[in-house]
Amino acid sequence: MSPKKRINIAIDGYSACGKSTLAKALAKKLDYVFIDSGAMYRGVTLFALENNLIAADKIAVPRLIELIDSITLSFGPFDDNGNRPLILNGKNVAEEIRSLTVSQHVSEIASIKEVRVALVKQQQQIGEEGGVIMDGRDIGTVVFPTAELKLFLTADSHIRTQRRFDEMQAKGDSTSFEAIQENLAHRDHLDVTRTESPLKQAADAIVLDNSFLNQEEQLAFVLKLVDSLLK
Ligand code: DC
Repeated sequence: MSPKKRINIAIDGYSACGKSTLAKALAKKLDYVFIDSGAMYRGVTLFALENNLIAADKIAVPRLIELIDSITLSFGPFDDNGNRPLILNGKNVAEEIRSLTVSQHVSEIASIKEVRVALVKQQQQIGEEGGVIMDGRDIGTVVFPTAELKLFLTADSHIRTQRRFDEMQAKGDSTSFEAIQENLAHRDHLDVTRTESPLKQAADAIVLDNSFLNQEEQLAFVLKLVDSLLK
């Protein structure tokens, strides 16, 4: 019997569109590996903050580039919530990378060419064997341009803010709705307008607007697509 075909699935889209939630559910259903590429950019941002490479909103880009190869990023074993924490130089930083401070600087860090080159290389290595679902901003266009399935997620911006607000409240984070809204709009703007690998829909991506779809409906929609590809 031939081994079961394992495809790569690229999920791109704006901030807080539910990309990771969908990717995680798909990975569980298909027994694939889920990689949150945004967590990797957040890890580099946390490294920069912890090493005083960001001061008064200015990033010490040449120093960060010098240090880029000393940053080790990996994903640890599944925790009780079914998430794999980001490990930055041996330390579990799952919580820290979700802070508003990291969110405020991550898009700028992600616009640095050398940072992208280093992370894209690691991401491509992870996908070599297939069976990977990766979400981010450049997965279908740069990381896995030959992915068998590419999805471009979008949702109404007010709904996206509300979802992120609820998520943070549940974690006991009291960041205001307005601060989250402003951060998402700012990040989307930087992600779409940057020179290096800007967020854009791959020509062969399937658009999924999930403003009014629940998680089960989204999963069912994508599983149908996967089924037809695996036939
Ligand atoms: O998915 P996220 O919101 O955690 O991503 C954090 C930031 O990282 C986002 O503002 C843009 C950037 N990013 C990127 O440029 N390319 C990726 N593949 C993933 C994220």
